[in-house]
Amino acid sequence: MVGSIIPSSRFTVDKMLAPVDWHACDLFVEYGPGVGTFCRPVLDRLRRDGALIVIDTNPLYIDYLKHMIGDSRFHAVLGSAEDVEAIVRAHGFEHADYVLSGLPFSTLPPGAGPAIAAATHRVLKPGGAFLVYQFSARARDYMARHFRHIDSGFELLNVLPCRLFWGWKADEDAAA
Ligand SMILES: C[S@@+](CC[C@H](N)C(=O)[O-])C[C@H]1O[C@@H](n2cnc3c(N)ncnc32)[C@H](O)[C@@H]1O
Repeated sequence: MVGSIIPSSRFTVDKMLAPVDWHACDLFVEYGPGVGTFCRPVLDRLRRDGALIVIDTNPLYIDYLKHMIGDSRFHAVLGSAEDVEAIVRAHGFEHADYVLSGLPFSTLPPGAGPAIAAATHRVLKPGGAFLVYQFSARARDYMARHFRHIDSGFELLNVLPCRLFWGWKADEDAAA
């Protein structure tokens, strides 16, 4: 369920977050934060009145992150990415501006990947994006069912070299 024991490199973090419009970001959600490689870089860029919700199924990671990150904008939730809509609502939001995923899509239980891609599309605001880094291109297949515009990238300076995808939710997708 973890996918990799080596945290993402700073090159992956910087490249993945580069297209984010931080001024327009009220809520940033992360799936599978693990030990929190992306959490501090996201908080460094996030507005002072923004929020970061991270969701992980592993209680050890969630306890660790709650202990390590003392920031009123940060909310670590024990749960599954499949339940993102309920989790976002429970924190007083209707939608997220960006959702970042470090989930191992190719090894998730059957049906979980498509369900997570669908729930992510529903929870995003039009103009928002689903940011995904993966060792395989499996995640892109799930994204393509919902996101018509997907940008792709590649980061060699990561263990293992990593594929990056940005799925943009178009205005006309609002009712999709
Ligand atoms: C590859 S690790 C993430 C690594 C980390 N984000 C990084 O950049 O170094 C994958 C994480 O996904 C979590 N995970 C697996 N299935 C999940 C699910 N359905 N919902 C949320 N988190 C999940 C695992 O517990 C693990 O922390």
